[in-house]
Amino acid sequence: MKVIVSGSSGLVGTALIESLRPDGHTIGRLVRSGSAATADATSRMIRWEPPTGSIDLAAMEGADAVVHLAGTSVAGGRWTAARKEALRRSRVDSTRHLVAGLAQLKQKPRVLVSASAIGYYGNRGDEILVETSAPGNDFLAHLCRDWEAEAAKAEREGIRTVILRFGIILAAHGGALQQMLRPFRLGVGGRLGNGRQWMSWVTLEDVVALIRYVLDEDSPRGPMNAVTASPVTNAEFTSVLAGVLRRPALFPAPRFALRIALGEMTDALLASQRVMPEKLNRIGYAFRHPQLKEALGAVLD
Ligand SMILES: NC(=O)c1ccc[n+]([C@@H]2O[C@H](COP(=O)([O-])OP(=O)(O)OC[C@H]3O[C@@H](n4cnc5c(N)ncnc54)[C@H](OP(=O)(O)O)[C@@H]3O)[C@@H](O)[C@H]2O)c1
Repeated sequence: MKVIVSGSSGLVGTALIESLRPDGHTIGRLVRSGSAATADATSRMIRWEPPTGSIDLAAMEGADAVVHLAGTSVAGGRWTAARKEALRRSRVDSTRHLVAGLAQLKQKPRVLVSASAIGYYGNRGDEILVETSAPGNDFLAHLCRDWEAEAAKAEREGIRTVILRFGIILAAHGGALQQMLRPFRLGVGGRLGNGRQWMSWVTLEDVVALIRYVLDEDSPRGPMNAVTASPVTNAEFTSVLAGVLRRPALFPAPRFALRIALGEMTDALLASQRVMPEKLNRIGYAFRHPQLKEALGAVLD
């Protein structure tokens, strides 16, 4: 299979390519100028400039699948107006341009897998959220809604489109868990805010397996919650993480302190999202790491 990946130098992209490579797939990496991606012998670099929509379409001909993971980091700095604009452009505009490019191909890919996030649902307390739940009403929710709407246009081109609403992706070497590890390892970790907010999570290994599953199977399409069926409160997450690391969790980070340090991003950090993978449950999909304690043990091993 010829698979083209955007955001290929990121946490998920790197792991996906490492998984695809030994199975003999042909891999193309959409690479921006200024990307951290480095050339390697087993994948082809394909130029694209997300802000302008310029894409080397000739190099994309013959692709069976496109996995679109690109987007500047949500945690990469305070959400100033300029930063919010960059977050939107790198997701909503890049997706619009990518789908417009796919529409011009002589032979269109069979499937597009496009990233989204459970930030789609906003801050929802104890409500159980499934794919058909209404979107939230904050900045991230609007961003995810508009990002997904651009990806969904690929269906009109006859391309099966799967939108994966990722929860917190657990990996030791990147993402939110890596940020949490440092204070815990120093013995100054603790819950965030009041700890009652729900966290919906999935390991990086499961994310890669899930992407490969939706690439291979013909039926998955539309938005799918990419989280395990075991969301936990932040207090529980904190206590399990401290247990796995054999460190105390005595130092809560109060909301006001987070707000001073992080500004509006705090709302996303403390948002309560109790998300269930209803579509995956319905098709009997089995996660490799469905329970938090075992999952953290495996990730941090
Ligand atoms: N990690 C999580 O917990 C999580 C949770 C929910 C949703 N997601 C979403 O899932 C996707 C993949 O996640 P990830 O953790 O792999 O993200 P990541 O590590 O931040 O990687 C994203 C990649 O996007 C590309 N990128 C950076 N700035 C860009 C820009 N201005 N315009 C276009 N592309 C840009 C970069 O790849 P190149 O340099 O190779 O272009 C970067 O490596 C992201 O869209 C992310 O928002 C992740």
